[in-house]
Amino acid sequence: MPAELLDQLVTDAARRFEENYQSPPQWIVAAPGRVNLIGEHVDYSDGFVLPMAIDRYCVIAACEKPGDDPGDTATIRSITKDGQIDITLDKPEYGRKGEWWNYVAGVIAGCREAGLRPRKFWALVTSDVPIGGGLSSSASIEVATATLLEAMTGTTLDPVAKALLCQQAEHEYAGVPCGIMDQFISALGRADHLMLLDCRSREVEHIPLVDNSVTVMIINSNVKHELSGSEYAERRSQCEAAAKKLGASSLRDATLDQLDSSRGKLEPVEYRRARHAISEIARTQAAAAAVKTGDWPRVGELMVASHESLRDDYEVSCPELDLLVELAGDLGAEGGVFGSRMTGGGFGGCTVTLVRTADAESVAHHVAGVYQQETNIEPSVLTSRPARGAHVVKAD
Ligand code: GLA
Repeated sequence: MPAELLDQLVTDAARRFEENYQSPPQWIVAAPGRVNLIGEHVDYSDGFVLPMAIDRYCVIAACEKPGDDPGDTATIRSITKDGQIDITLDKPEYGRKGEWWNYVAGVIAGCREAGLRPRKFWALVTSDVPIGGGLSSSASIEVATATLLEAMTGTTLDPVAKALLCQQAEHEYAGVPCGIMDQFISALGRADHLMLLDCRSREVEHIPLVDNSVTVMIINSNVKHELSGSEYAERRSQCEAAAKKLGASSLRDATLDQLDSSRGKLEPVEYRRARHAISEIARTQAAAAAVKTGDWPRVGELMVASHESLRDDYEVSCPELDLLVELAGDLGAEGGVFGSRMTGGGFGGCTVTLVRTADAESVAHHVAGVYQQETNIEPSVLTSRPARGAHVVKAD
Protein backbone atom coordinates (compact mmCIF):
# COMPACT_ATOMS: atom_id res chain seq x y z
CA MET A 1 0.00 0.00 0.00
CA PRO A 2 2.50 2.69 1.09
CA ALA A 3 4.85 1.94 -1.79
CA GLU A 4 1.90 2.40 -4.13
CA LEU A 5 1.18 5.90 -2.81
CA LEU A 6 4.77 6.96 -3.35
CA ASP A 7 4.96 5.25 -6.75
CA GLN A 8 1.95 7.16 -7.87
CA LEU A 9 3.35 10.48 -6.67
CA VAL A 10 6.63 9.75 -8.47
CA THR A 11 4.89 8.80 -11.73
CA ASP A 12 2.79 11.91 -11.51
CA ALA A 13 5.85 14.10 -10.82
CA ALA A 14 7.68 12.67 -13.85
CA ARG A 15 4.70 13.24 -16.12
CA ARG A 16 4.07 16.78 -14.91
CA PHE A 17 7.78 17.55 -15.17
CA GLU A 18 7.88 16.51 -18.81
CA GLU A 19 4.72 18.46 -19.60
CA ASN A 20 6.15 21.55 -17.97
CA TYR A 21 9.76 21.50 -19.19
CA GLN A 22 9.46 19.33 -22.34
CA SER A 23 12.24 17.11 -21.10
CA PRO A 24 12.30 14.03 -18.82
CA PRO A 25 13.69 14.42 -15.29
CA GLN A 26 17.23 13.20 -14.62
CA TRP A 27 16.66 12.90 -10.88
CA ILE A 28 13.67 12.21 -8.67
CA VAL A 29 13.95 12.35 -4.89
CA ALA A 30 11.49 11.85 -2.03
CA ALA A 31 11.42 12.93 1.62
CA PRO A 32 8.60 12.06 4.05
CA GLY A 33 6.51 13.97 6.55
CA ARG A 34 6.42 12.69 10.11
CA VAL A 35 4.26 12.06 13.11
CA ASN A 36 5.63 12.26 16.63
CA LEU A 37 4.44 9.48 18.93
CA ILE A 38 5.67 11.23 22.05
CA GLY A 39 8.33 13.77 23.15
CA GLU A 40 6.57 17.00 22.24
CA HIS A 41 8.12 20.42 22.58
CA VAL A 42 11.27 19.03 24.12
CA ASP A 43 13.66 18.89 21.16
CA TYR A 44 14.79 22.47 21.84
CA SER A 45 15.27 21.56 25.52
CA ASP A 46 17.82 18.87 24.55
CA GLY A 47 15.28 16.12 25.33
CA PHE A 48 14.27 12.83 23.74
CA VAL A 49 11.69 12.55 20.95
CA LEU A 50 10.08 9.47 19.39
CA PRO A 51 8.81 10.27 15.88
CA MET A 52 8.34 8.10 12.80
CA ALA A 53 8.31 9.00 9.12
CA ILE A 54 4.91 8.58 7.46
CA ASP A 55 4.17 7.30 3.99
CA ARG A 56 3.32 10.77 2.73
CA TYR A 57 6.13 12.38 0.78
CA CYS A 58 7.41 15.51 -0.87
CA VAL A 59 8.77 14.48 -4.27
CA ILE A 60 11.06 16.63 -6.43
CA ALA A 61 11.89 15.86 -10.06
CA ALA A 62 14.70 17.80 -11.71
CA CYS A 63 17.09 18.07 -14.62
CA GLU A 64 19.95 20.32 -15.58
CA LYS A 65 19.10 23.24 -17.84
CA PRO A 66 20.69 23.28 -21.28
CA GLY A 67 23.90 25.31 -21.55
CA ASP A 68 22.29 28.07 -23.62
CA ASP A 69 19.65 28.81 -20.99
CA PRO A 70 20.43 32.32 -19.70
CA GLY A 71 21.26 33.08 -16.07
CA ASP A 72 22.47 30.94 -13.22
CA THR A 73 19.17 30.03 -11.68
CA ALA A 74 17.11 27.11 -10.48
CA THR A 75 13.56 27.28 -11.80
CA ILE A 76 11.25 25.54 -9.38
CA ARG A 77 7.61 24.78 -10.06
CA SER A 78 5.29 23.67 -7.28
CA ILE A 79 2.25 21.63 -8.17
CA THR A 80 1.00 21.70 -4.62
CA LYS A 81 1.17 25.49 -4.40
CA ASP A 82 0.59 26.15 -8.07
CA GLY A 83 3.47 28.56 -8.52
CA GLN A 84 6.89 28.92 -10.12
CA ILE A 85 9.99 30.79 -8.99
CA ASP A 86 13.53 31.44 -10.20
CA ILE A 87 16.16 31.15 -7.49
CA THR A 88 19.59 32.66 -8.11
CA LEU A 89 22.00 29.88 -7.27
CA ASP A 90 24.91 31.91 -5.97
CA LYS A 91 22.72 34.19 -3.84
CA PRO A 92 19.36 32.61 -3.04
CA GLU A 93 16.99 35.24 -1.70
CA TYR A 94 13.91 34.67 0.32
CA GLY A 95 10.43 36.07 -0.13
CA ARG A 96 7.69 36.97 2.30
CA LYS A 97 7.34 34.81 5.39
CA GLY A 98 5.36 31.68 4.61
CA GLU A 99 6.26 31.47 0.89
CA TRP A 100 6.88 27.84 -0.07
CA TRP A 101 10.07 28.53 -1.97
CA ASN A 102 11.78 30.01 1.12
CA TYR A 103 12.48 26.46 2.26
CA VAL A 104 14.02 25.58 -1.09
CA ALA A 105 16.06 28.79 -1.27
CA GLY A 106 17.28 28.33 2.30
CA VAL A 107 18.45 24.79 1.67
CA ILE A 108 20.18 25.77 -1.60
CA ALA A 109 22.01 28.48 0.36
CA GLY A 110 22.97 26.00 3.10
CA CYS A 111 24.15 23.38 0.61
CA ARG A 112 26.32 25.94 -1.14
CA GLU A 113 27.89 26.81 2.17
CA ALA A 114 28.55 23.10 2.66
CA GLY A 115 30.39 23.09 -0.68
CA LEU A 116 27.70 21.65 -2.97
CA ARG A 117 27.64 23.53 -6.27
CA PRO A 118 24.69 22.42 -8.41
CA ARG A 119 24.52 23.60 -12.02
CA LYS A 120 21.44 25.53 -13.12
CA PHE A 121 18.39 23.29 -13.10
CA TRP A 122 14.66 22.91 -13.57
CA ALA A 123 12.66 21.27 -10.82
CA LEU A 124 9.10 20.36 -10.04
CA VAL A 125 7.83 19.82 -6.51
CA THR A 126 4.78 17.86 -5.52
CA SER A 127 3.66 16.47 -2.19
CA ASP A 128 0.97 14.49 -0.45
CA VAL A 129 2.02 15.58 3.04
CA PRO A 130 -0.94 17.65 4.28
CA ILE A 131 0.20 21.28 4.37
CA GLY A 132 -0.08 23.11 7.68
CA GLY A 133 -1.33 19.97 9.46
CA GLY A 134 1.62 19.61 11.82
CA LEU A 135 3.02 16.66 9.86
CA SER A 136 6.20 18.49 8.81
CA SER A 137 5.42 19.35 5.25
CA SER A 138 8.10 22.05 5.54
CA ALA A 139 10.80 19.66 6.78
CA SER A 140 9.91 17.29 3.94
CA ILE A 141 10.47 19.95 1.25
CA GLU A 142 13.72 21.03 2.93
CA VAL A 143 15.09 17.51 3.20
CA ALA A 144 13.92 16.65 -0.33
CA THR A 145 15.78 19.72 -1.64
CA ALA A 146 18.99 18.74 0.18
CA THR A 147 18.64 15.17 -1.12
CA LEU A 148 18.23 16.50 -4.65
CA LEU A 149 21.35 18.65 -4.39
CA GLU A 150 23.30 15.65 -3.08
CA ALA A 151 22.16 13.58 -6.06
CA MET A 152 22.87 16.36 -8.56
CA THR A 153 26.36 17.04 -7.28
CA GLY A 154 27.25 13.44 -6.45
CA THR A 155 28.11 14.49 -2.88
CA THR A 156 26.71 12.80 0.19
CA LEU A 157 26.37 15.08 3.17
CA ASP A 158 26.87 13.73 6.65
CA PRO A 159 23.24 12.94 7.65
CA VAL A 160 23.45 14.99 10.84
CA ALA A 161 24.93 17.95 8.97
CA LYS A 162 22.18 17.58 6.38
CA ALA A 163 19.41 17.70 8.98
CA LEU A 164 21.04 20.69 10.69
CA LEU A 165 21.39 22.56 7.42
CA CYS A 166 17.68 22.06 6.76
CA GLN A 167 16.83 23.25 10.27
CA GLN A 168 18.98 26.34 9.64
CA ALA A 169 16.96 27.04 6.48
CA GLU A 170 13.78 26.93 8.51
CA HIS A 171 15.25 29.36 11.07
CA GLU A 172 16.71 31.84 8.61
CA TYR A 173 14.50 31.64 5.58
CA ALA A 174 11.16 30.67 7.09
CA GLY A 175 11.65 32.50 10.39
CA VAL A 176 10.61 29.60 12.67
CA PRO A 177 13.01 28.79 15.55
CA CYS A 178 12.20 25.06 15.36
CA GLY A 179 14.11 22.25 17.04
CA ILE A 180 15.80 19.39 15.22
CA MET A 181 13.17 16.65 15.33
CA ASP A 182 11.38 17.13 12.01
CA GLN A 183 14.43 17.38 9.77
CA PHE A 184 16.11 14.43 11.52
CA ILE A 185 13.23 12.05 11.08
CA SER A 186 12.57 13.10 7.49
CA ALA A 187 16.25 12.59 6.64
CA LEU A 188 16.96 9.52 8.75
CA GLY A 189 13.65 7.69 9.23
CA ARG A 190 13.63 3.94 8.64
CA ALA A 191 10.75 1.81 7.41
CA ASP A 192 9.14 -0.18 10.25
CA HIS A 193 11.02 1.77 12.93
CA LEU A 194 10.35 4.59 15.33
CA MET A 195 13.30 6.89 15.88
CA LEU A 196 14.38 7.62 19.44
CA LEU A 197 16.45 10.76 19.03
CA ASP A 198 18.56 12.20 21.81
CA CYS A 199 18.38 15.85 20.83
CA ARG A 200 21.46 16.68 22.87
CA SER A 201 23.96 14.09 21.63
CA ARG A 202 22.00 13.72 18.35
CA GLU A 203 22.34 9.98 18.71
CA VAL A 204 19.62 7.99 17.04
CA GLU A 205 18.21 4.62 18.07
CA HIS A 206 15.91 2.93 15.56
CA ILE A 207 13.25 0.99 17.46
CA PRO A 208 11.30 -1.62 15.48
CA LEU A 209 7.54 -1.20 15.24
CA VAL A 210 6.53 -4.31 13.39
CA ASP A 211 3.60 -5.55 15.44
CA ASN A 212 0.74 -5.46 12.94
CA SER A 213 -1.85 -5.73 15.69
CA VAL A 214 -1.31 -2.01 16.47
CA THR A 215 -1.83 0.91 14.13
CA VAL A 216 -0.72 4.51 14.32
CA MET A 217 -3.72 6.65 13.40
CA ILE A 218 -3.38 10.32 12.55
CA ILE A 219 -6.49 12.49 12.71
CA ASN A 220 -6.26 15.97 11.27
CA SER A 221 -8.53 18.43 13.09
CA ASN A 222 -8.33 20.57 9.95
CA VAL A 223 -7.99 23.70 12.03
CA LYS A 224 -4.91 25.88 12.26
CA HIS A 225 -5.09 28.68 14.79
CA GLU A 226 -3.06 31.81 14.21
CA LEU A 227 -0.24 32.71 16.59
CA SER A 228 1.36 29.30 16.35
CA GLY A 229 4.61 30.95 15.18
CA SER A 230 4.90 33.53 17.94
CA GLU A 231 3.66 31.12 20.62
CA TYR A 232 6.32 28.62 19.57
CA ALA A 233 9.12 31.15 19.99
CA GLU A 234 7.66 32.21 23.34
CA ARG A 235 7.58 28.62 24.67
CA ARG A 236 11.15 28.16 23.62
CA SER A 237 12.34 31.24 25.48
CA GLN A 238 10.29 30.36 28.57
CA CYS A 239 12.08 27.01 28.71
CA GLU A 240 15.44 28.70 28.31
CA ALA A 241 14.61 31.19 31.07
CA ALA A 242 13.46 28.38 33.38
CA ALA A 243 16.62 26.36 32.75
CA LYS A 244 18.76 29.37 33.48
CA LYS A 245 17.00 30.00 36.79
CA LEU A 246 17.53 26.36 37.71
CA GLY A 247 21.24 26.69 36.92
CA ALA A 248 20.95 24.12 34.12
CA SER A 249 22.18 24.53 30.56
CA SER A 250 18.84 23.10 29.37
CA LEU A 251 15.79 21.47 30.97
CA ARG A 252 17.27 18.09 30.07
CA ASP A 253 19.55 18.54 33.06
CA ALA A 254 16.81 19.46 35.53
CA THR A 255 14.70 17.13 37.70
CA LEU A 256 11.17 17.58 39.04
CA ASP A 257 12.56 17.64 42.61
CA GLN A 258 14.94 20.39 41.70
CA LEU A 259 12.14 22.28 39.99
CA ASP A 260 9.96 22.04 43.08
CA SER A 261 12.67 23.15 45.44
CA SER A 262 13.41 26.17 43.22
CA ARG A 263 9.77 27.00 42.57
CA GLY A 264 10.06 30.44 44.18
CA LYS A 265 12.72 31.53 41.67
CA LEU A 266 10.51 30.92 38.65
CA GLU A 267 7.52 32.80 37.30
CA PRO A 268 4.44 30.53 37.64
CA VAL A 269 4.25 30.18 33.86
CA GLU A 270 7.93 29.19 33.64
CA TYR A 271 7.35 26.63 36.35
CA ARG A 272 4.55 25.01 34.33
CA ARG A 273 6.49 25.05 31.08
CA ALA A 274 9.44 23.43 32.82
CA ARG A 275 7.22 20.84 34.50
CA HIS A 276 5.96 19.82 31.06
CA ALA A 277 9.42 19.58 29.52
CA ILE A 278 11.02 17.66 32.39
CA SER A 279 8.15 15.19 32.73
CA GLU A 280 7.80 14.77 28.93
CA ILE A 281 11.47 13.84 28.56
CA ALA A 282 10.97 11.10 31.17
CA ARG A 283 7.73 9.93 29.53
CA THR A 284 9.46 9.62 26.17
CA GLN A 285 12.19 7.39 27.55
CA ALA A 286 9.57 5.28 29.32
CA ALA A 287 7.50 5.02 26.11
CA ALA A 288 10.53 3.90 24.08
CA ALA A 289 11.14 1.14 26.64
CA ALA A 290 7.46 0.11 26.51
CA VAL A 291 7.50 -0.03 22.68
CA LYS A 292 10.45 -2.41 22.89
CA THR A 293 8.43 -4.84 25.00
CA GLY A 294 5.21 -4.32 23.04
CA ASP A 295 3.46 -2.94 26.13
CA TRP A 296 0.88 -0.92 24.19
CA PRO A 297 -1.36 -0.07 27.17
CA ARG A 298 1.67 1.54 28.86
CA VAL A 299 2.59 3.47 25.71
CA GLY A 300 -1.02 4.66 25.48
CA GLU A 301 -1.08 5.77 29.11
CA LEU A 302 2.07 7.83 28.57
CA MET A 303 0.55 9.40 25.45
CA VAL A 304 -2.50 10.49 27.41
CA ALA A 305 -0.33 11.97 30.17
CA SER A 306 1.65 13.78 27.47
CA HIS A 307 -1.51 15.33 26.08
CA GLU A 308 -2.68 16.51 29.49
CA SER A 309 0.69 18.11 30.15
CA LEU A 310 0.70 19.84 26.75
CA ARG A 311 -2.85 21.04 27.32
CA ASP A 312 -2.55 22.23 30.92
CA ASP A 313 1.11 23.07 31.55
CA TYR A 314 2.41 23.90 28.11
CA GLU A 315 -0.84 25.35 26.74
CA VAL A 316 -0.28 24.46 23.10
CA SER A 317 -3.45 22.44 22.52
CA CYS A 318 -6.82 23.83 21.41
CA PRO A 319 -10.47 22.79 21.88
CA GLU A 320 -10.55 20.82 18.62
CA LEU A 321 -7.49 18.73 19.51
CA ASP A 322 -8.80 18.19 23.03
CA LEU A 323 -12.08 16.98 21.60
CA LEU A 324 -10.39 14.48 19.27
CA VAL A 325 -8.33 13.11 22.17
CA GLU A 326 -11.38 12.93 24.43
CA LEU A 327 -13.45 11.09 21.81
CA ALA A 328 -10.69 8.54 21.30
CA GLY A 329 -10.31 8.21 25.07
CA ASP A 330 -14.04 7.53 25.46
CA LEU A 331 -13.60 4.33 23.46
CA GLY A 332 -10.83 3.15 25.77
CA ALA A 333 -8.98 -0.15 25.52
CA GLU A 334 -12.21 -2.12 25.02
CA GLY A 335 -12.99 0.03 21.99
CA GLY A 336 -9.47 -0.45 20.62
CA VAL A 337 -7.77 2.78 21.75
CA PHE A 338 -4.55 2.51 23.77
CA GLY A 339 -3.93 6.25 23.91
CA SER A 340 -4.21 9.51 22.03
CA ARG A 341 -2.58 12.93 22.11
CA MET A 342 -1.97 16.04 20.06
CA THR A 343 1.15 15.79 17.91
CA GLY A 344 3.51 18.42 16.51
CA GLY A 345 3.63 22.10 17.39
CA GLY A 346 -0.05 22.33 18.39
CA PHE A 347 -2.73 25.06 18.09
CA GLY A 348 -4.45 22.84 15.55
CA GLY A 349 -3.14 20.16 13.24
CA CYS A 350 -3.31 16.50 14.17
CA THR A 351 -3.68 14.00 16.94
CA VAL A 352 -1.85 10.69 17.01
CA THR A 353 -3.71 7.68 18.36
CA LEU A 354 -2.40 4.21 19.02
CA VAL A 355 -5.17 1.77 18.14
CA ARG A 356 -5.73 -1.94 17.91
CA THR A 357 -5.62 -2.67 14.18
CA ALA A 358 -8.75 -4.82 14.31
CA ASP A 359 -10.68 -1.80 15.63
CA ALA A 360 -9.07 0.89 13.49
CA GLU A 361 -12.06 1.40 11.23
CA SER A 362 -14.60 1.70 14.02
CA VAL A 363 -12.32 4.08 15.97
CA ALA A 364 -11.94 6.34 12.92
CA HIS A 365 -15.66 6.22 12.26
CA HIS A 366 -16.63 7.14 15.83
CA VAL A 367 -14.06 9.88 16.42
CA ALA A 368 -14.47 11.51 13.00
CA GLY A 369 -18.26 11.27 13.12
CA VAL A 370 -18.76 12.85 16.54
CA TYR A 371 -16.05 15.46 15.91
CA GLN A 372 -17.82 16.57 12.77
CA GLN A 373 -21.20 16.68 14.51
CA GLU A 374 -19.82 18.82 17.30
CA THR A 375 -17.61 21.19 15.32
CA ASN A 376 -19.04 21.21 11.82
CA ILE A 377 -15.53 20.54 10.58
CA GLU A 378 -14.72 17.42 8.63
CA PRO A 379 -11.55 15.82 9.98
CA SER A 380 -9.24 13.68 7.83
CA VAL A 381 -7.97 10.34 9.03
CA LEU A 382 -4.89 8.55 7.85
CA THR A 383 -2.92 5.60 9.09
CA SER A 384 0.70 4.87 8.38
CA ARG A 385 3.36 2.28 9.10
CA PRO A 386 6.73 3.84 9.90
CA ALA A 387 8.04 4.79 6.46
CA ARG A 388 11.42 5.14 4.82
CA GLY A 389 13.30 8.44 5.18
CA ALA A 390 14.60 10.61 2.35
CA HIS A 391 15.97 8.79 -0.65
CA VAL A 392 16.81 9.11 -4.31
CA VAL A 393 14.16 7.44 -6.43
CA LYS A 394 15.81 8.00 -9.82
CA ALA A 395 19.30 9.19 -10.66
CA ASP A 396 20.92 9.72 -13.99
C1 GLA B 1 7.49 21.69 15.49
C2 GLA B 1 8.99 21.91 15.44
C3 GLA B 1 9.76 20.76 16.10
C4 GLA B 1 9.21 20.47 17.50
C5 GLA B 1 7.70 20.34 17.45
C6 GLA B 1 7.10 20.18 18.82
O1 GLA B 1 7.15 20.58 14.70
O2 GLA B 1 9.43 22.04 14.09
O3 GLA B 1 11.13 21.08 16.14
O4 GLA B 1 9.63 21.43 18.42
O5 GLA B 1 7.08 21.46 16.84
O6 GLA B 1 7.52 19.00 19.40
